[in-house]
Amino acid sequence: MTIRTLHIPAGGGFEHVTVGSTQPVEPRPGEISVRLRASSLNFHDYMVVKGVTGPTEQRIPMSDGAGEVIAVGDGVSEFAIGDHVVSTFFPDWLDGEPQVEGFARTPGDGIDGYAREQVTAPATSFTRAPRGWSHAEAATLTTAGLTAWRALMDDGALKPGEVVLVQGTGGVSIFALQFAKLAGARVIATSSSEAKLERLRELGADEVINYREDPDWGLTARRMTGGHGVDHVLDVGGPATLAQSMLASRVGGHVALIGVLTGVDGQLPLGLALGRQLRLQALVVGSRRQQQDMVRALEAGTLRPVIDRHFALDDLVAAFRHQESGSHFGKIVLDI
Ligand SMILES: NC(=O)c1ccc[n+]([C@@H]2O[C@H](COP(=O)([O-])OP(=O)(O)OC[C@H]3O[C@@H](n4cnc5c(N)ncnc54)[C@H](OP(=O)(O)O)[C@@H]3O)[C@@H](O)[C@H]2O)c1
Repeated sequence: MTIRTLHIPAGGGFEHVTVGSTQPVEPRPGEISVRLRASSLNFHDYMVVKGVTGPTEQRIPMSDGAGEVIAVGDGVSEFAIGDHVVSTFFPDWLDGEPQVEGFARTPGDGIDGYAREQVTAPATSFTRAPRGWSHAEAATLTTAGLTAWRALMDDGALKPGEVVLVQGTGGVSIFALQFAKLAGARVIATSSSEAKLERLRELGADEVINYREDPDWGLTARRMTGGHGVDHVLDVGGPATLAQSMLASRVGGHVALIGVLTGVDGQLPLGLALGRQLRLQALVVGSRRQQQDMVRALEAGTLRPVIDRHFALDDLVAAFRHQESGSHFGKIVLDI
């Protein structure tokens, strides 16, 4: 038996993605084997596969993976054959303060990821998936779900009644909208498209702003709070959005520095940051413990991820082209 597996060479590049095979590996002590059933696309995976931050050696791409346990190594008591599991972004960061710099140990970047039918890995590379969720739904949680969860619930310590500003309609921002509503917050959401703004309203956004038509959307958001300012902003744009994110914020507000959609270098309006005593908190996804907390919360509620479209594993490049078009709303999933 061989395992269908996608590879990218050192340096990446869409034109260099190949479909090949690998051999199954028996789990050693502490490991599990998982029949992967789904993955989901993130901007990070896009940058790696396209070759912008491509790997330094041949790599199996994709950091998100969900599936079913098919073998369990000695000493593993947390999982049994048949359990549904979802991968973690940092297989070695189990709990506590951030312990890792960069992506050297992130599946699909520094180590092999989940664009394959089967994997054998340390049991700690996975958590349980939420009960009753499809593999496709679970596969949206590893990166986008946990980033939004940590920004709001851990770093933000979100309270009911607070105001959250989310930007655009990608995976992280839609999860943030959903988690914020779950926690009883008020949400202001932005998008470049009127049709998407309507869908944001349907998902529970209390107010919406078209950031393309309103370049001062941060000030508009502030006005929507009676001039007080929002409590939390999840900044996914980076250099082109940070100043407006800060202008939207209340004194002492929390700006989660998450995304780099408009680049990685820019100017920081330090006077504004100091004057408003803003808490700028950069974050990269989260720990295994935070993922377990998120899974437990999801099992207690009715939230389901917004999946824009499914692609087959072999159609990875077509899926990234769809993401590149910016026409998606929520998560794009690979069925394996
Ligand atoms: N730090 C972390 O842990 C972490 C984790 C996950 C993702 N990220 C980063 O967060 C960003 C979003 O990731 P994602 O996976 O959610 O991406 P995605 O699904 O590809 O989302 C892209 C969406 O962002 C919106 N957008 C694009 N440019 C924008 C701008 N200038 N201002 C406001 N919104 C804009 C667009 O929404 P509309 O079409 O509605 O305008 C676009 O559809 C990426 O930079 C990614 O690398 C960081």
